[in-house]
Amino acid sequence: MTFKDGARALVTGAASGMGEATARYLLEHGVQVVAVDVNADGMSHLGCETLVADLGDPGDRAKVTERADGFDYLVNAAAIIQFKPIFEFTVEDWRRAFQVNAESTFFLCQTIGPRMRPGGAIVNFSSTSAKLSSTIEAAPYAATKTAILSVTRSFAYALADRPVRVNAIVPGITNTPMQERVLIDLAKIRGTTPEALSEARDKTVPFKRGASSDEAAAVIAFLLSEESGYITGENINFSGGMVMW
Ligand SMILES: NC(=O)c1ccc[n+]([C@@H]2O[C@H](COP(=O)([O-])OP(=O)(O)OC[C@H]3O[C@@H](n4cnc5c(N)ncnc54)[C@H](O)[C@@H]3O)[C@@H](O)[C@H]2O)c1
Repeated sequence: MTFKDGARALVTGAASGMGEATARYLLEHGVQVVAVDVNADGMSHLGCETLVADLGDPGDRAKVTERADGFDYLVNAAAIIQFKPIFEFTVEDWRRAFQVNAESTFFLCQTIGPRMRPGGAIVNFSSTSAKLSSTIEAAPYAATKTAILSVTRSFAYALADRPVRVNAIVPGITNTPMQERVLIDLAKIRGTTPEALSEARDKTVPFKRGASSDEAAAVIAFLLSEESGYITGENINFSGGMVMW
């Protein structure tokens, strides 16, 4: 993959899972990375500049954006997921999901995008839950991930003149710490075990397995790289065939 000379990337959610794998991939390929997460400890091993921030909080977000001039790449991986029977979600649950997932993605694109170097690229994180309705126990999360598809298209238009490209990855089952929590929480609600749930879910994937974070990082790297220079406003399913539209 070819990255811009002297490229600098801001990667959120860099303490864990796909954000961490993306930060590592970029660092290994000579890109300077500023890692952002609410979890300071999780970023300590990366060996790059780190910023600790709750991206669902406008004040914390401002501390990140005020230091974000001249980036080439922005990866918005930070997110939370919460499981409940759908009729038990509260307004606070809904708001927190939107603050951390959709609001942070929108406002990081809005504040950092226009100050990125021409030729830069942004990758946002949607989810197959934006396209399927099989996990209604995370309905607010799914709604945030649907919103992120729209936010991605809007900023692809808004930043096209710069030009900064804006695309989304749409992961299915990816084996990360979030996925481990998903299995535990969802199994409890459905009265099954994480192992049984995992087996049943893998059967719904044509490839019959979840992905690794490193496989995801390679797709994200492609969307940032010069090789995807004519792709913007796109969402790329990364789901082993679970979703094909
Ligand atoms: N793992 C999957 O199967 C899967 C599937 C579809 C979409 N996704 C999406 O992929 C992205 C990465 O997920 P992952 O599985 O690597 O998750 P993860 O939980 O392993 O990592 C998410 C990171 O975001 C950070 N974070 C959470 N709230 C934050 C906040 N308020 N401020 C700053 N950082 C915060 C966490 O500390 C964590 O380091 C997320 O957007 C997730 O919704 C994951």
